[in-house]
Amino acid sequence: MAVIAGNWKMHLTPSATSAYFDAFELPAGSDGHDVIVFPPALCFAAARAAVTAAGRIALGVQNVHWEAEGAFTGETSAEAAAAAGAAYALVGHSERRHVFGETDAEVARKVGAVRRAGLVPVVCVGETLQERKAGQVDAVILRQLDAALGGLSDGDGGLMVAYEPVWAIGTGETATPSDASDAHGTLRERLDHRLGREASAGVPVLYGGSVKPGNAAELLAAPAVDGVLVGGASLDPADFAAIVAAAS
Ligand code: PGA
Repeated sequence: MAVIAGNWKMHLTPSATSAYFDAFELPAGSDGHDVIVFPPALCFAAARAAVTAAGRIALGVQNVHWEAEGAFTGETSAEAAAAAGAAYALVGHSERRHVFGETDAEVARKVGAVRRAGLVPVVCVGETLQERKAGQVDAVILRQLDAALGGLSDGDGGLMVAYEPVWAIGTGETATPSDASDAHGTLRERLDHRLGREASAGVPVLYGGSVKPGNAAELLAAPAVDGVLVGGASLDPADFAAIVAAAS
């Protein structure tokens, strides 16, 4: 069973969201997989209406604030996301970290908020090209993971991790399946250690970064890769369906 998640980022409108789901068909044989879509906040209601009708597709939000409510203009709480029908929330996506300056400490607070609201956080970690060239892949992704797991204890589950090397996001550059497996192995070892093997076994580690219909099957088949988080290619319903089919 694999997790296939689509992060639409700041693309599409409510009416384009309805049209997307009219065109999107889950491929035969995909019943065992978890399919999750992360639409922009203002498209969420349209997505919710469409997926309720279609069934079998879960929804998530791309970001939350760590407080449940308050004077935080422009922000969304995890509680509001849950009430609107979200089951998942991305936390610490590289665009949040690198474009909006989100810190490891803020990521940790958001993980806490998402869990408090009963949603599953999808914690994104990944190194820049400079960090990769400097041989710091493990150090960076483990620092980010440790910070995100700060509030969790032995036996805690209910989260996902996405390894998304920054240099592979939206660039057409993909980690090789063996690079992905290496990083995933490192993350899995730390999850085993921090949460215990049993709880860790319930935490999927996804790969993200220029996943396309043409490379999805080999990435999904790579050891320690439990699913994919797809950006650009998830905007085309046929391409996203083809990626779900690649897991089947
Ligand atoms: P990409 O984005 O597939 O467009 O590289 C992945 C992501 O940012 O989640």
